[in-house]
Amino acid sequence: MLEITVNDISYQLDVEPDTPLLWVVRDELKLKGTKFGCGMAQCGACTVHLDGVPIRSCVTPVSSVAGRSITTIEGIGEQSENQQTAKLDKKLHVVQQAWIDEQVPQCGYCQSGQVMSAVALLEKNPQPTDDDIDKAMAGNVCRCGMYGRIRTAIHSASAKLAKEIILIPADEKPAEVLVKPTAAEGSFDPTAAEGSINPTIAEGS
Ligand code: FES
Ligand code: FES
Repeated sequence: MLEITVNDISYQLDVEPDTPLLWVVRDELKLKGTKFGCGMAQCGACTVHLDGVPIRSCVTPVSSVAGRSITTIEGIGEQSENQQTAKLDKKLHVVQQAWIDEQVPQCGYCQSGQVMSAVALLEKNPQPTDDDIDKAMAGNVCRCGMYGRIRTAIHSASAKLAKEIILIPADEKPAEVLVKPTAAEGSFDPTAAEGSINPTIAEGS
């Protein structure tokens, strides 16, 4: 038995240790937002976060992530319990909302991985330059060639995050900057199985 934590939930899994994490995420946990592209760490479609760092889940043996924190596209937004309806209210991550606002996806297949890499970039570098973006996103291939819109959406998300920066007063220790990731309401359900980022565009394959 292996124990892994995905989107803050712990799972006990009876799988072979060398099973790729991508197989576990999609087939065992039924989190279908993460995609299979090349299976060789060449396209980025399978990108998830391991302790906040983007990795290629297609070449990551599940045994190597036991006891560590994995985040998939389904886990980057916020959700809270609605006291009135007793249901979960979901909010998109600011990057997901920027992807919708800037109409980034065409077929949508690569976009889960693109969003995960963009989220990791902005957590590390909230104000990236074009060059920073190109370097950070270089491993995520888009066969539809939506690179210009991806860059625009990252700048858009960066600008929104900058507006939400809360500066802690200088007399409070430690002096630091907090970024409060919130997102406007949107129609994309990041937990939807096989969900395209843009619900108005059918998934390519
Ligand atoms: S499917 Fe993992 S990098 Fe292409
Ligand atoms: S939108 Fe990127 S592969 Fe189609």
